[in-house]
Amino acid sequence: MLLTVIPFILSMHRVASSSGSITLKCKDLKVLQLEIPGMEECLNISRSIEALSSVESVMMMYPFFYRPQSMKLKDGWQLYPLQHYYQQIATETTAWRLSCVNGEFTVCPSYPAAVIVPTAVDDNTLKKAARFHQGGRFPILSYYHKKNGTVLLRSSQPLIGPNRKRCPEDEQLLSAALNRGERGFIIDTRSAQAAKQARMMGGGTESKSSYPCWRRLHGPLERGRPLQESFIKLVEACNDTSLSMDRWLSKLESSKWLAHLKGALSTACLAAQCMEREEACVLVHGAEGTDTTLLVTALAQVILDPECRTLTGFQGLLEREWIKAGHPFHFRCARSAYSHARLKQEAPIFLLFLDCVWQLGRQFPFSLEFNEHLLLVLFEHTYASSYGTFLCNSEKERCLCEVKEKTHSLWSWLNQPSQQKKHLNPLYTYNALVIWPSVEPQSLQLWQGLFLRWIRSSQYLDEAWAEIQRLVTSCEDAPEESAGDRQCHSQPDAAHPHRQTQLGNAG
Ligand SMILES: *[C@@H]1O[C@H](CO)[C@@H](O)[C@H](O)[C@H]1NC(C)=O
Ligand SMILES: *[C@@H]1O[C@H](CO)[C@@H](O)[C@H](O)[C@H]1NC(C)=O
Ligand SMILES: *[C@@H]1O[C@H](CO)[C@@H](O)[C@H](O)[C@H]1NC(C)=O
Repeated sequence: MLLTVIPFILSMHRVASSSGSITLKCKDLKVLQLEIPGMEECLNISRSIEALSSVESVMMMYPFFYRPQSMKLKDGWQLYPLQHYYQQIATETTAWRLSCVNGEFTVCPSYPAAVIVPTAVDDNTLKKAARFHQGGRFPILSYYHKKNGTVLLRSSQPLIGPNRKRCPEDEQLLSAALNRGERGFIIDTRSAQAAKQARMMGGGTESKSSYPCWRRLHGPLERGRPLQESFIKLVEACNDTSLSMDRWLSKLESSKWLAHLKGALSTACLAAQCMEREEACVLVHGAEGTDTTLLVTALAQVILDPECRTLTGFQGLLEREWIKAGHPFHFRCARSAYSHARLKQEAPIFLLFLDCVWQLGRQFPFSLEFNEHLLLVLFEHTYASSYGTFLCNSEKERCLCEVKEKTHSLWSWLNQPSQQKKHLNPLYTYNALVIWPSVEPQSLQLWQGLFLRWIRSSQYLDEAWAEIQRLVTSCEDAPEESAGDRQCHSQPDAAHPHRQTQLGNAG
């Protein structure tokens, strides 16, 4: 599929007088070498590829032209309606309500039309609180932890600035999120130092005196350019099979990718611990609230909630916490790891999330209903896709481009039975428990299935999985009291003595 390939023509040279060669470095990390007889054809092909791979306008992109016969355009776009999810919460707890204050995307351009907020706060107060947050991202509910009735909120940084501005409406909104006498935790995804420095630029973080019921914690995470450089370095290191062991380890270390994984998982565990163990409400934000914030809130939900670990539940989570929540996919996933263009907005935040989920799946092999293949498919489709699901930066842009009317939904393709079968984990057993990952450096591994995908064949691994699938299926088909029955009941992996996460700054 040439179009998922998004090539950068790095070199084109004359092989013989009458032929040429084109090297394509693709967004999915594949490298292709094309030998083309005929110099003129070679030049023509390279020109077309260059033109097709640098389409700027969203509406000229492939999803707007892709029309598979077996699919209908409108299918899939209504699979995970946000309103239903929020309405469900609003019926379970009277303390929260659905608000359409952002119906026209005027209060916050990067939020969806419907958001869920404390019942005690009216829309006017929300509007004022929005003006006190970067990009209008006022605190809204991200997840309701049924078991304990605690909530996870997210926002962007408050615009406190050098003069320590206050906003009574924002203070009212945050105290309405807590029940009487409850306390909450604010998890800032920047270091205390960085949060303080942000005041010089008009941002900042909630002070103890203005928000007395909230206690602030910091879980500093890397973002932006340093994260992109980490990705580029790791991919470079993985491609070089001539490295000695020492050189490989030193390159792996200097890429810092595993350290970023550890940071993301630790901060997500911190948020989950505050909710599950301290029974407290949690607000997460960094600066813009569209990147590391979503990384933490989405991961915390996979850790806490078994629903988010099912195939459809996970898709719903991506829809809510990444796509509708306004993660700028168009900016962040423009070029992938091989581009030398210094794109200011590019960063593999979503890939880091997928890698964290892969680490969870490796530590809890029975607890995710989907397999690695789904994560790989999602990685590819965020960077280049025939479907419109990951296009644009926000719901507002998607409405303007009529993405839902003019492109197909990735979910409607993924949920066809033939596709679903490929993405299910044969070992899955429903596990109602929280899955606390180990975040020790020793427990985190290179995601070979992604980073070594084009370098070594996965044939033997694929065969092993096919065999596991066969064993599980034949086991399930066996008659009730057969001897094999005993083996069918795999223990949920949460019963295994996993080491608990140690978080120095958790208390
Ligand atoms: C290359 O492209 C030009 C302009 O589109 C066209 O006239 C020419 O026939 C092409 N050459 C080949 C060998 O396809
Ligand atoms: C919160 O969850 C814990 C662990 O499941 C449980 O022991 C506790 O009773 C719950 N608290 C509330 C208020 O539901
Ligand atoms: C990967 O390494 C090979 C040689 O080991 C080199 O020819 C190729 O260009 C490299 N690919 C990338 C994308 O750097």
